[in-house]
Amino acid sequence: APQLLDEVRRRPLVVVANRLPVTQTEDGWEASAGGLVTALRPVIAETGGAWIGWDDDADAVPRRVEGLHADLHAVSLTAEEVAGHYHGFSNRTLWPLFHDAVVQPVIDRSWWQAYQEVNRRFAEVAHRVIADADEPPLLWVQDYHLLLLPDLLRRLSPQSPIGLFLHVPFPPPELMARLPWRDQLLQGMLAADSIGFHTTRYRDNFVRSVQQLFTGITSLGDTLALPDGRYVQTVAHPISIDTEEFSDLANDPETERELAELREQFAGRKVFLGVDRLDYTKGIRHRLQSIELLLEEHPELRGEIAFVQIAVPSRDDVEEYRDLRTQVETEVGRINGRFTEPGSDVPVHYLYRGVPRTRLAAYYRLADVMCITPLKDGMNLVAKEFVTVQAAAGEAGTLLLSEFTGAAQEFEQDAVRCNPFDSEGTSHLMAAALQLDEGDRRQRIGRMAEAVRSCDVFRWVDDELSDIARGHASP
Ligand code: ADP
Ligand code: F6P
Repeated sequence: APQLLDEVRRRPLVVVANRLPVTQTEDGWEASAGGLVTALRPVIAETGGAWIGWDDDADAVPRRVEGLHADLHAVSLTAEEVAGHYHGFSNRTLWPLFHDAVVQPVIDRSWWQAYQEVNRRFAEVAHRVIADADEPPLLWVQDYHLLLLPDLLRRLSPQSPIGLFLHVPFPPPELMARLPWRDQLLQGMLAADSIGFHTTRYRDNFVRSVQQLFTGITSLGDTLALPDGRYVQTVAHPISIDTEEFSDLANDPETERELAELREQFAGRKVFLGVDRLDYTKGIRHRLQSIELLLEEHPELRGEIAFVQIAVPSRDDVEEYRDLRTQVETEVGRINGRFTEPGSDVPVHYLYRGVPRTRLAAYYRLADVMCITPLKDGMNLVAKEFVTVQAAAGEAGTLLLSEFTGAAQEFEQDAVRCNPFDSEGTSHLMAAALQLDEGDRRQRIGRMAEAVRSCDVFRWVDDELSDIARGHASP
């Protein structure tokens, strides 16, 4: 593998993702915060390369931003294309379908047209980038917005190693079968040399899907042999975080200051915490139901606990997300109306906004019980950030974690596992979490943080790239 990695690292690296890794601030454009960008920074500095992605303000995107040695290529899309490709097919068809249809996927032919068209638009930009490169670059496609791209890219650059990584779950064949265009999507994916998933379960779902829908595909270990003689690697590489960054953040003086403030505000109360994009996959409504049951069944806890839900605004052009916001806000109001005593604090603190990173770290430190209860989640990085921050600061909170997250496969023993569909069972686990012994809690946090440290985002990038090289090298 190291030799392959060397081979691969001699080529320029071209990342193709729906979004560019940059944000526009008052002071201009800067590299976005986040594990993927951090992990790729040293690799791209070595190989040189480019990043292709869509931006609303494509014409304004600079060629380079400080600290990222990649040329930025913005794909410019019309409002109609964005509506059909991103809001429509990506977020109302594929997103719910890949998340176990926890809401009904919408089937719309015009969105499928837009999805194909936008994938071609990305390929056109890639075509220019490939033509400018000294040798065929390694092409690394990200996520469900671009599943047709590996096939389009292979036609453009047959000599390039091509990888695809799926940041969301892959559904079982029975669900995939609901999609009228399942064959085209799977064929698009199979053109890659290596297809990466977060877990072996998603990988196995993919392998079973292609074997049930197409004839003549054999599976040998993690290699698929296709009828046309090509081989495709299918691999499980759990995405992760930069643990050093979060350990430093845990003990940052600004974090300490924020924490002191929060500790004063929540003095005398045990804090239950939720941190999510406001997305129906995250199980926020079920979580609120569990909190309500906890307060109902344990009168002695009223006034003794606070539930803080930080909900980051997300995809609010999409109807299901706007509806969710209304439902969550109605529930929060109802629960607070039911349990608030005059003159005392409310039980549910709801923040509809993002918070700065030191504030986020302070909340992670403050939490007695971190409630991560998605109905389905590809990985869930918040879980990894929480245990890393807690361990680095010597805290001893508890991670309540849905078994339907990718992260649950890595924290088999040490998280308190819950089934979020069972609101009552989850409320019992919330009560039980408050009874855990401090030494036990500290050990669990320590073991989970160690698991994250040994499998961080730098390892994820290395594993992905070496498997793309391995896939490309197979006959
Ligand atoms: P998803 O990719 O579905 O949004 P993850 O849990 O994998 O879910 O990743 C969410 C990311 O967003 C994490 O890195 C987390 O730090 C960040 N984030 C979540 N909540 C906030 C918030 N309130 N403010 C700022 N960043 C947040
Ligand atoms: O986890 C899947 C994902 O698409 C991430 O890649 C992304 O950061 C997150 O969901 C938010 O999605 P969006 O780009 O639609 O705001």
